[in-house]
Amino acid sequence: MTPGAPAGAAATAVTIVEVSPRDGLQNDPGELSTEQKVELTVRAHAAGLRRIEVTSFVSPRAVRRLSDAEAVVDGVRKRELAGLSMIGLVVNERGVRRAAAAGVDEINVVIVASEPFSRANQGMSVRQSVAQLPDLVAAGHAAGLRTTVTIGTAFGCPFAGEVATGLIADLAGQAGLAQPDEIALADTIGVGVPTDVTQRFAAVRAVIPAATGLRAHFHDTRRTGMANAAAAVAAGITALDASLGGIGGCPFAPRATGNIATEDLVYLLDRMACPTGVSLGALIGGAEWLGESLEHDVSGALSKAGPFPPAAAW
Ligand code: COA
Ligand code: ZN
Repeated sequence: MTPGAPAGAAATAVTIVEVSPRDGLQNDPGELSTEQKVELTVRAHAAGLRRIEVTSFVSPRAVRRLSDAEAVVDGVRKRELAGLSMIGLVVNERGVRRAAAAGVDEINVVIVASEPFSRANQGMSVRQSVAQLPDLVAAGHAAGLRTTVTIGTAFGCPFAGEVATGLIADLAGQAGLAQPDEIALADTIGVGVPTDVTQRFAAVRAVIPAATGLRAHFHDTRRTGMANAAAAVAAGITALDASLGGIGGCPFAPRATGNIATEDLVYLLDRMACPTGVSLGALIGGAEWLGESLEHDVSGALSKAGPFPPAAAW
């Protein structure tokens, strides 16, 4: 029996959404060439990851590191990776048009829960960003794209502080009216704890259409990310964002650090007997390659500690 598997029970599969090419690279001190960015997605795919956020279609002035978005999508498409769903992050209508023209399979439309962060991140009020959701989601669907709405700073804001669960439920309810395929809650600055995760997802689930998927996005800034991931799985969330090596962070959030590391999450889920379809050994190799390419150590634990039992994933 798989370690951690409850006798007689089949654990629900979890889909890991790899966000290192987008969240990971947008704020990293190291820089990858377009070819290396394509290689990052190729390696993530080879490890078994099938939903990969490959870039964002935002202002190149706002996020210079991802200003080669079209070239990255083109480069990945030429590799003809079987079963891959490429995701592009967007914050406005122009981004949706660019993403669709580039040929992504999904868009991830970001709104932000707190007013000052919304202004800093995307130059608009919360109300403005929510008001454009029906058009952006409809445009995504019209282009044949699976469409997610992510609510940023859903667990706390670097400028405004606490963000109430009731506000998140309210925003999710409004987002749900736009009928996206999925709604994600993002702990942009890594301040949430497991009880927040349980409460917020329960509150959101109560107000959105039953068919809408739920997805969680955690940063490990205060080392609560992995506990939050376990709480999300316990709450029945089956799509979790993670970043190879644990790289990443929002350029508009002071002291931001990376997402939960994909290899650490796969270790956790493997040991909890939650199927992910992802190879831990391939991820560890990928995290080592990424650290060498970015010319700095990555924060993920598994490339340092190794798997368990020691020979398990090699
Ligand atoms: N793609 C490319 N360029 C875009 C764009 C898009 N989707 N949307 C707007 N722009 C350009 C504008 O044409 C303008 O260009 P210019 O400076 O050459 O004239 C520039 O971006 C600024 O646009 P403006 O409408 O004046 O608004 P702004 O300065 O308040 O910026 C956003 C608003 C949304 C464009 C910007 O804040 C942004 O791209 N934010 C994304 C942040 C992000 O990715 N955060 C991390 C992930 S959540
Ligand atoms: Zn993030």
